Amino acid sequence: MPIGSTPPPRTPATPPARPSAPPTAGKPPAAPSARPGKSIRPASRPEWLALKTHAGKVATTHLRDIFKADERRGSRLCAEALGTGIYIDYSKNRVTDETMQLLMKLAAASEIGKHRDAMFAGQKINTTEDRAVLHVALRAPRSAMFNLDGRNVVPEVHAVLEQMMTFAGKIRSGEWRGNSGRRIRNVINIGIGGSDLGPVMAYEALKAFSQRELTFRFISNVDGADFHEATRDLDPGETVFIVCSKTFTTLETLTNAQAAKDWVVTTMRDPKAVAKHFVAVSSNLEEVRKFGIDPANMFAMWDWVGGRYSMDSAIGLSTMIAIGPENFRALLAGFHAMDNHFRTAPPERNLPILMGMLGIWNTNFLFGAETVAVLPYSNYLKRFPAYLQQLTMESNGKHVDLDGMPVAFETGPIYWGEPGTNGQHSFYQLIHQGTRLIPCDLIGFCQPVEGSSPAQHDLLMANLFAQGEALAFGKTLEQVIAEGVPSALAPHHVCQGNRPSTTILVEKLTPQTLGSLIALYEHAVFVRGVVWNIDSFDQFGVELGKQLAKGTAAEIASSKPGKSAHDSSTAALIKRYQRFRKAP
Ligand code: F6P
Repeated sequence: MPIGSTPPPRTPATPPARPSAPPTAGKPPAAPSARPGKSIRPASRPEWLALKTHAGKVATTHLRDIFKADERRGSRLCAEALGTGIYIDYSKNRVTDETMQLLMKLAAASEIGKHRDAMFAGQKINTTEDRAVLHVALRAPRSAMFNLDGRNVVPEVHAVLEQMMTFAGKIRSGEWRGNSGRRIRNVINIGIGGSDLGPVMAYEALKAFSQRELTFRFISNVDGADFHEATRDLDPGETVFIVCSKTFTTLETLTNAQAAKDWVVTTMRDPKAVAKHFVAVSSNLEEVRKFGIDPANMFAMWDWVGGRYSMDSAIGLSTMIAIGPENFRALLAGFHAMDNHFRTAPPERNLPILMGMLGIWNTNFLFGAETVAVLPYSNYLKRFPAYLQQLTMESNGKHVDLDGMPVAFETGPIYWGEPGTNGQHSFYQLIHQGTRLIPCDLIGFCQPVEGSSPAQHDLLMANLFAQGEALAFGKTLEQVIAEGVPSALAPHHVCQGNRPSTTILVEKLTPQTLGSLIALYEHAVFVRGVVWNIDSFDQFGVELGKQLAKGTAAEIASSKPGKSAHDSSTAALIKRYQRFRKAP
């Protein structure tokens, strides 16, 4: 049994050969790096090797026994970020005190503090793109200083915040009128990836704080169905589009923005309508101007903000319109409080370091857990797992280290999830009784959001607590038999337990706590990137598909049959598609 108390088939010290190994697994190809061998390989650190040896011991222990041996474990293996309302209980992870000490040693050897300080100091830690990583400046108070090449960026950040507040205020109050003089009732965000997932997640999460008379929609997919469904029942005269694109060159966003422009101009029969119905968020003034949006209606962002770290920049304009400038400020304050905690709390009480290192333990040492299930016990957080997918996987889905050398271990795990309790009636079965080890993040709130029933909230939270308990302790064969289950059926009823989970318990879902929660994950991702010695801030992997799609689109549109440049499978698929497609 791979997960229960009996020894697993794989020893953590020697991971098995993976059948679906990535291209760089196994014998590394010739070093592609411009700077080979500059930094130490994480897996050859003595601290890493010590964890490998130690994992062999922990693999044969069960959480039942670990808890039995220490009655105070549940109140000891937890930590709180003061001023954020966030408390984590990591006692139901398969760790001992020694594990935590060894993980902290690895964190220290990886110089997390030094790397963190370099990020906060505006150093160009995104080395492959030669860029600083300063999303922490987006939520800094006006009095703070974040220097980039000797220039404090905080005043620019606050100037954009002021501009956002003015615009948001005008939409919320009805002062901003459409081209035909009507009040704006619909706000549509057009963007994709980081220019969509943060805004849509925050809107859903903070719906209870939103101005309910306004309708908010989000268009991301180049599938025309997304645009059609978002606009089919709306009046363009009452609709404002926020075109969010850091680069303002993203195919999906520009295609949808063009569709929106055509819709507005054609329906309103006035090309000048663009001025009242379109604003842009971008770092590319030239392209915004070319598209036809007045630069006065553009909200700036900067190349030192990565797309997936941008929801607290002007990319959050729809969020600010929805929840109001004061609540948006509270959201930023929440992010900032977690930044301060990350910066100042000692490693063993530092939530991002703890969560980051536990992730390393589960991924690299404890049976090589391949995924993490994010299970928010709040329906408002239904888009949170999708948001985290980009944050974690675009950041840490990397196969080479900072020197361009293939990594010798697993990097970013697969993030997925659904709100509890819905997931309980679907995929939890596999987590409880399947053969895979799936660490879970259980996220819950002590108080319900205004308007929802406190009694139902108790029930919701009872389920969260029950799941953590069931995952950790399971149900033994003896217990099953004592319940009177016939012996032939008994094995089917056994839950091995020993499934790790971390419970994140937050006081209440508010703009502030949401900010802190997101920053917690941002920094945990950073911590893992540092330990793995990878660049968590580039995303070259998404480029290849984009490049190929451009050529393929041209080929589909062309009526002339020619020799295909594709492999035989792709060529045959395109040919068949061309036969049955509906030409535009
Ligand atoms: O998919 C790659 C990506 O660059 C993401 O990192 C980014 O969030 C998204 O595309 C959107 O980019 P942009 O804001 O430039 O349109």
